[in-house]
Order: sequence, then C-alpha cells, then structure tokens
Amino acid sequence: MIRLNENYLKLQSSYLFSDIDKRVAAFKREHPDREIIKLGIGDVTRALPKACIEAFHKAVDEMASDATFRGYGPEQGYDFLREKVAEYDFRRRGAEVDADEVFISDGAKCDTGNFQELFADDITIAVPDPVYPVYVDTNVMAGRTGNFSNGRYQGFVYLDCTRENGFVPGVPDAHVDCIYLCYPNNPTGAVATKAQLRQWVDYARQEKALILFDAAYAAFVCDESLPQSIYEIEGAREVAVEFRSYSKTAGFTGTRCAYTVVPKNCLAYDSGGAAYPLHRFWNRRHTTKFNGVSYPVQRAAEAIYLGDGPRQLREITDYYMANAAMIRGRMTKLGYVCTGGSNAPYLWIDAKTDSWNFFDLLLQKAGVVCTPGAGFGKCGEGYVRISAFNNPTRVSLALDRITKVLGG
Ligand code: MLT
Repeated sequence: MIRLNENYLKLQSSYLFSDIDKRVAAFKREHPDREIIKLGIGDVTRALPKACIEAFHKAVDEMASDATFRGYGPEQGYDFLREKVAEYDFRRRGAEVDADEVFISDGAKCDTGNFQELFADDITIAVPDPVYPVYVDTNVMAGRTGNFSNGRYQGFVYLDCTRENGFVPGVPDAHVDCIYLCYPNNPTGAVATKAQLRQWVDYARQEKALILFDAAYAAFVCDESLPQSIYEIEGAREVAVEFRSYSKTAGFTGTRCAYTVVPKNCLAYDSGGAAYPLHRFWNRRHTTKFNGVSYPVQRAAEAIYLGDGPRQLREITDYYMANAAMIRGRMTKLGYVCTGGSNAPYLWIDAKTDSWNFFDLLLQKAGVVCTPGAGFGKCGEGYVRISAFNNPTRVSLALDRITKVLGG
C-alpha cells in the first residue's frame, strides 16, 4: 500500500494564489463580458529589458552551433553570473559575499521552500504573520507542525506584524532555531531598518539560530539608508542565508532565474553541538536535486549588470514604483490607511472589513483582483494587498473603478 505523507492533510485546501485564481475563473465564467484587472499576484507585465533580450538571443544562437553549444552547466550556476552577483549586488554595497557562495536557481519560491530540508524535524521555527505562505506550507509538508487550529499551525512561533509595530516584529522572548524574515516585505511592503535587522542578527548569534532572509524585492528599496541585504549587518554571514530573485526586478517571472547566498561561515549544529558549514550541505542538496538554470537564461540575467543594463533595470523598478505611489495616493484619498508602496511594490491596506469580503467586493463590483490579507495569516485579517505590478493605464483604470465602488 502506498501511504501518503499525512502532513499534506494538515494543509489548507490550496495554495493562496491558486485559490484566488479559482475564484477569478468562476467570476469570469459567470460574467464573460467583464474585463478583469489583476492587482493580485505579484506578476510583472513589462517585457524583459532590451539588454536581457539581446544577451538571451546571442546565447540562444550559441546553442545553435556545435562549437559554442553548452550541455549541462554547473549546477550552482555559471561563474560569469555568480561573479557579477557577488560584485554588484553585495560587495559594491559593502557586503562581503564571494562568488562561490552564490547558488543560481530557478526561483526564490523554490529556494525558500526547499532550504528547510537541511534542518532537523524538531527545530523551532519563527514565522511572521502575515507571511508569504511558502515558508509555512513547506514546513507543514515536512512535518514540523501540528494541526491547523484557530487560523494557525501548532508548533510555529508566530511573529505578529501589526500596525503598532509598523509590521516589523521584534525578536521573540523565547528561543527559536530558525527565523524567516522578508524585507522589503511580502505582503505588507514594510522594510526593516539596519537597527532592526541588527537585533535579529544579534539574537541569532546568541541563540545559534539561523535567519532565512528573503530579499526578493531588494531592488525596490529607494531609500539609501535602508538595507537591501542582511549582509550589510555585521556578523550576519555566520547566521543568515539570503534569497534573491530576478523575477520582479527584471521581469523574469516566466523566464525563471534567482539565487541563494550561503556564506561559507554560516553554521548549523548536530545533536552533539558540533558545527558544520551549511554551504556544504546546500551544495550537496543543490547538486543532487537540481541541474542548473539554462545557459541563455543565465546570460540574460548577467546582462542586467553590464553596460546599459542597470539603467534599464532602474527604469522598470521606477515604472512599478510610480504605480505604487498612484495606488497609495488614491487609496489614502479614499480614506484607507496604507503601508508599503514606497520601498516595496506591495501596498497593505486596512480594508475596514473582512479581507475576503473586500476581495469579493472589488472583484464583483469593480472587476479588480487584489489579495485578501487573511490568506497570509491570522494577522492579515482585515487587510488586503494591492500589487503595483501592472501597466499605469490599467492601474489608473482599476483605481477609477475602485473609487466608484468605495468612494460613495
Ligand atoms: C506574490 O504575489 O506574493 C508573489 O508573486 C508570489 C511569488 O513570488 O511566488
């Protein structure tokens, strides 16, 4: 008899964004003539930057000739990309990262979901609430939690993100072994200061804990005083792994390319207390289960660091951030309190009502899709997330429709 991993039975019915897709599909079936504007899932709408497309084409042409063809690449990624990442994303910002600490992958979703495989079953995990559901669900699948009860899985330490703490929770009073942090935050758009991250790094060092730091939205930080990487904090290399993605910054949601940084002096411990570098084990896992991102995609990613690439990238992030400012301005004018949207492409809006009711109201009456905050956790109830990833004309049209529905 083939037996199920019964931890899957603990999961909520479906992944949040699949759930939303189903509701939107049902609405479309009932109202085939209504045009929907999606400000829900953070999927980009702009084409790849010209620099990426040119590099992509060139690399595809290389695959067309025996002399320049590439078969399996290094599972960890080509050096040409790993070196650019270390230099431009980290060292130039004063963060020490070596090229061989960078693992190129096909997505931060996969990496943040897979990294927990390296840890024991009985570790204590802290997750923010609201939270990107992947951190939670993958640990549920791995059996690190009890059942779902009263909006939460037993066994996690939840870090409440509330208006009172500016949606940036402080360190817990008790010990935890592993902490998931995401800044700029998905879903709230809040960004931690250096002082706030320093508290976490100090805590992790003291507790011999590990921080899994999701910085997928780092490129949207406009305020230079805010950290983009946890490695801008002294001592972070020993206690933090960082995840980045080209999805939102360079339009790679469909193209797929991301990376994870595992510093060589970042440690985990066996049951006897002996320390091991996590780098060795992530390398082992990655080379066993992953065969690398395709050569043309890695060349396309490399192009964002070269020549006109950085300017083209900035133009794309500015484009989405202008949408964020528009959403923030119009929703504030309508009397809604908004967080995020200034160093992050998401706005977290106090819906003044139940999250799913607000979601349904916008869908049914305005034909606009947002994401109900409750889908990100108990503390998300009463909020909705609006994404800035769409074109300005459609964002403006969505806001006109929202104003008609909510403006009274
Ligand atoms: C989101 O909307 O939260 C993201 O697009 C999901 C993801 O990046 O996987």
